[in-house]
Amino acid sequence: MKPISLTNTEQNDSDKQSQARLLERGTLPEHIAIIMDGNGRWAKSKGNMRSYGHKAGVESVRDITEVCAQLGVKYLTLYAFSTENWSRPKLEVNALMRLLARSLRKEAENLNENNIRLETIGQIDRFPKRCKQELTEAIELTKDNDRLNLCLALSYSGRWDITEAVKKLAHRVQDGEIEPEDINDDMISSHLSTAEIPDPDLIIRTSGEYRISNFLLWQLAYSELYITETYWPDFRRDELYKAIHSFQERERRFGKLSKKEQKKQAGLHVQELTT
Ligand code: IPE
Ligand code: IPE
Ligand code: MG
Repeated sequence: MKPISLTNTEQNDSDKQSQARLLERGTLPEHIAIIMDGNGRWAKSKGNMRSYGHKAGVESVRDITEVCAQLGVKYLTLYAFSTENWSRPKLEVNALMRLLARSLRKEAENLNENNIRLETIGQIDRFPKRCKQELTEAIELTKDNDRLNLCLALSYSGRWDITEAVKKLAHRVQDGEIEPEDINDDMISSHLSTAEIPDPDLIIRTSGEYRISNFLLWQLAYSELYITETYWPDFRRDELYKAIHSFQERERRFGKLSKKEQKKQAGLHVQELTT
């Protein structure tokens, strides 16, 4: 297989070493989800229009996607446009739509050659015809790829996702397929738009905002959060390595006791039984 390259640059030795070190250090998140924020502020800090920031953000998408594929991360979900983002000025929304359509046209082949599968979650029906067409074509083209699943959250919100799942479940109850008592965690998960995707292990938000902004509300129950001050257009591979490094330092307890405490408690239990 040809080496993974979306950025059209050859991977240098120091980058190869950074990746090897990360892989040696600990487990990788299987699913990374990113709230790509700060494009407008990045552009403004450079005296430019907000759309300039969105354009620059595409370069970060390319770099981060490439790195995830190189490292062996299986799922990458990118929050690209929220339900609430439709309320922005028409000029900005239109510029974003054009950018999306153009980027898809340009990158679809490249994604395919690199064995990356493209998927979306969100209300794609709300998008202009050209975007929908580019999305459908790119999804169809890449559907058999299995190196990395790249999922774009477009016109997405966590509340929309949960509302849709509730509607589907209500219909199933109405049709007599299930009883209300049958509804459990797993059943709700399997009616969300992310039914085929594991919950994110690591959620990254750029631009220093400490909020979730209606992203994967149900799915993030036990995700590790990483927030960086860096604006999205400046968030490149070295920043991702820092985020993964931080993830590897965490102990995920899922409500249970820490490993150390579990051992201590087991010791006390043995003592109790033998005295
Ligand atoms: C994120 O950057 C991209 C989208 C939400 C589409 P912003 O456009 O929110 O940039 P800031 O947060 O205003 O700087
Ligand atoms: C979140 O960013 C949505 C995306 C990154 C697509 P926003 O810029 O829309 O979020 P708020 O308004 O700061 O919460
Ligand atoms: Mg923002």
